[in-house]
Amino acid sequence: MDHQQASQRIRELTEELSLHNHQYYVLDDPTISDAAYDELLRELQALELAYPDLAQEDSPTQRVGSAPQGRFEPLTHTIPMLSLANAMNDEELLDFDKRIRKELGDEIIEYLVEPKLDGLGVELIYQNGIFTAGSTRGDGYVGENITQNLKTLRSLPLRLLDQKRDIPPYLEVRGEVFMTHQEFEALNENQLNDEKQPFANPRNAAAGSLRQLDSRITAKRKLKVNIYAPGRIDNFQVDTQEQFIHALKDWGFPVNERYKLCKGIDEVIDFHHALEADRETLSYDIDGSVSKVNRLDQQAELGMRSRSPKWAIAGKFKARQEITRIESIEASIGRTGAITPVANLEPVALGGVTVSRATLHNQDEIERKDIRVGDTVVVQRAGDVIPEVVKVILDQRPAGTQSYIIPDTCPVCEGHVVRLEGEAKHYCQNISCPAQIKGRIEHFVAKRCLDIDGLGTKLVAQLVDEDLIHSIADIYLLTVGQLAPLERMAEKSAQNLIQAIEQSKEAELWRLIHGLGIRNVGEHLSKLLADKYGSLIRISEATVDELEAIHEVGPIVARGVVEFFRDEDNQRLVELLFKAGLNTEKDISSNGSGVLQGLSFVFTGKLEIFTRDTARELVELMGGTTANSISKKTDYLVAGPGAGSKLEKASKLGVKVLSETEFKDMAGVD
Ligand code: IVH
Repeated sequence: MDHQQASQRIRELTEELSLHNHQYYVLDDPTISDAAYDELLRELQALELAYPDLAQEDSPTQRVGSAPQGRFEPLTHTIPMLSLANAMNDEELLDFDKRIRKELGDEIIEYLVEPKLDGLGVELIYQNGIFTAGSTRGDGYVGENITQNLKTLRSLPLRLLDQKRDIPPYLEVRGEVFMTHQEFEALNENQLNDEKQPFANPRNAAAGSLRQLDSRITAKRKLKVNIYAPGRIDNFQVDTQEQFIHALKDWGFPVNERYKLCKGIDEVIDFHHALEADRETLSYDIDGSVSKVNRLDQQAELGMRSRSPKWAIAGKFKARQEITRIESIEASIGRTGAITPVANLEPVALGGVTVSRATLHNQDEIERKDIRVGDTVVVQRAGDVIPEVVKVILDQRPAGTQSYIIPDTCPVCEGHVVRLEGEAKHYCQNISCPAQIKGRIEHFVAKRCLDIDGLGTKLVAQLVDEDLIHSIADIYLLTVGQLAPLERMAEKSAQNLIQAIEQSKEAELWRLIHGLGIRNVGEHLSKLLADKYGSLIRISEATVDELEAIHEVGPIVARGVVEFFRDEDNQRLVELLFKAGLNTEKDISSNGSGVLQGLSFVFTGKLEIFTRDTARELVELMGGTTANSISKKTDYLVAGPGAGSKLEKASKLGVKVLSETEFKDMAGVD
């Protein structure tokens, strides 16, 4: 392919991928398979590696991020980014409406009410439809230029769509960057694996991710953005906020669809409460509603206060913090034997549900917060997390309270309780502890694992207590005859359960991996392992070194995986699950299509065509893997000048050696 042809193909691919990107990440309606998309993307990446001067400004390959910059440059907002006045309750919303009606002299005002997304405000600038710069809100006047980081957000258009509506030559829009609960949990799982501090809530996680100097890190955090407000826009005219939102959609921006046009404040208040009720069901955090006068001419007439517009208000939801009293503290044993101290509370209503228990995390936390039975405490719910005790209200502490200490024998099985060096948690050492067995089974059948419907906490406890099951594998030996006579069961429900158990045998591989309960391997890492290895057997044979070579897998996870499969009980378990007929393979034919699929590479010596990082990237891009040291499983050693001991080892192990040029040809880059 010559320069001219490459240029043409790069332009075609950029355009095609950006349309698919919009279908997938904004409309949630993909029109090609993931594999086909990946293939196009890989083709473009390879071409851009070969012809760096031809990369387009809106190239979708930038979504993976780029090497760190020194610091964020300041960027002055053309129009200041104001904040919003708050209404803490219905009365304050009524007052807001009264002021507006008075000012405008109208009887009924039309408001557009939107969810108030709990993330970070950003501004995006498009020149002739191309995303050219983006910034944080900063102090409202000057923000930070975070363009590179914003480019990694998949739902942020790098180029606007022009089929439905003309694109203004200069366009600024504002919106919110946020993280979904699922991403938040996956991120915290990784943080813990890497022995890093978990984030307190999705907002902090989004903020931390967006302000990374290395945009490759931002790219991994899978942030989302929703656009909701205009900045300066040249040559553009609409009459209402609702029409503005339609324009945003036409241009390909992601907008939050849960807005409502309300006639009069009563409808606003009703919708505000409807949003509040829905809050628990959303996959991201919202902390209120935003009501905006819909007509833009009325907005202009009302104008601004010094820090906020007069035509909009944020209706706040009720706090998710409440005050209550600790009635007792107990030690709860999890599936790994980890002991979590739990406070039994005087029941209290919190964000729509009654809370009667809260986690105290571990002994150190209890001591740090000095939590005692009888204390009056502040409890809170954040995201999907179990309620926790935030702090003690010390001046309400009754006389004679004592500190709580986790017992040294397990309250369930009386087994030995120990706390290992460097660990925050205490553990019950008896792996046959019924609490652990129940915990492991409960985890295995849970929604995010094998998802066996009808096998809840109570039934699992009953089955274990009645000696019908002792391990995960026993689930697959259950019969209708055993289940039907149980309390709260009948012939029909027993049949349904057996059917659900049968069905679970077909579950995707990552669900099985997650269900096994390998330490520190949650949903996210389970998916990663399933993708990388394609079968349970291959994962069970992986070495610490290989696992660590996978991006996102740290030493703790790697060791955890290897130790899990080295354990004889676990080996037996896997074998039994295998015999029971569970699916232990991932269909990788639909996934990998790179020319280096399944091949493993090690690089040594000086590389002259690629940098090490580029070479590694190229291998991963084409479906292969890389490692730092040679083993029997290495397929190729790519050796440049000055290669030493690795070359010797390769010849000893019979590993094929390639020159860098041969490697380049193999990868199909020209
Ligand atoms: S409009 C001049 N709409 O809330 C009005 N803001 O407390 C500009 N926010 O800084 C904001 N969801 O970061 C608007 N649907 C929404 C919003 C929203 C969240 C944030 C935004 C703003 C803050 C004000």
